[in-house]
Amino acid sequence: MGYSIAVAGKGGTGKTSLCGLTIRYLTEKKRGPVLAVDADANTNLNEVLGVKIHATVGALREDSLAAVKSTAPRPGGMSMEQLFDYQIQQAIIEAKGFDLLVMGRPEGAGCYCAANNIIRKYMDRLAEKYPYMVMDNEAGLEHLSRRTTQDTDLLLIISDPTVRGIMTGGRIGELVKELNLNVKRSVLIVNRVQDGADGALRQAIERTGVEFAGFVPSDDLIFDYDLNGKPLVQLPADSKALTSYFAILDRLFA
Ligand SMILES: Nc1ncnc2c1ncn2[C@@H]1O[C@H](COP(=O)(O)OP(=O)(O)O)[C@@H](O)[C@H]1O
Ligand SMILES: [Mg+2]
Repeated sequence: MGYSIAVAGKGGTGKTSLCGLTIRYLTEKKRGPVLAVDADANTNLNEVLGVKIHATVGALREDSLAAVKSTAPRPGGMSMEQLFDYQIQQAIIEAKGFDLLVMGRPEGAGCYCAANNIIRKYMDRLAEKYPYMVMDNEAGLEHLSRRTTQDTDLLLIISDPTVRGIMTGGRIGELVKELNLNVKRSVLIVNRVQDGADGALRQAIERTGVEFAGFVPSDDLIFDYDLNGKPLVQLPADSKALTSYFAILDRLFA
């Protein structure tokens, strides 16, 4: 099993942006390839990464559900799982240094249990082929208990630079423990910090009891790239958010 990284935190804290930069870090500094998974129904990791989506697992889930229910013979006498293997292979988007799998949103009502079980099994098998997996998640915690894949080696809890935001981060850390989730290491990252962090922020961080990984400064370049629809992974190597974040990852992987 490869090393898996996931993110958690409120909406707008920078989960997707930092996932993108994590993927760049791993492809540049570690020997990739990386499996990037966009597990947020409001898919946008691909924009940060600068790749186009041509298929999602959500759409496949629809097909699989129909196939599970259908009694008609499948093409070429394929088993249900073979069919799904084949389909999900089609959903993998290949890019330089990484592959991207977009979960998307399953359309319509209905029970996806059968299809979801196959997805989970397949995802685990797929993840084995990559030394690293980075999963972007939606806000909230449901995704952690739903566990699209088996284990998470590193959970990045992202917070905005407010006391309340950091307290939320702390609660996420507690929940991970309470729910007995398969998370080996959780760390807190405070993003979008303006001119240093004050004492109140530092005290709040200490009170969370979550291992603190570091601050990422607010960076106008990120705003700029966003405004102009430029992929964030193309940030110059000396941009301040990128250098701070890469230093955090250097420490985490040391
Ligand atoms: N360090 C930063 N400096 C400036 N803007 C940032 C920074 N990190 C994220 N942003 C911006 O904040 C917004 C939310 O980021 P995003 O990564 O989409 O958050 P999430 O995935 O948690 O909802 C985006 O417009 C992004 O460009
Ligand atoms: Mg996001």
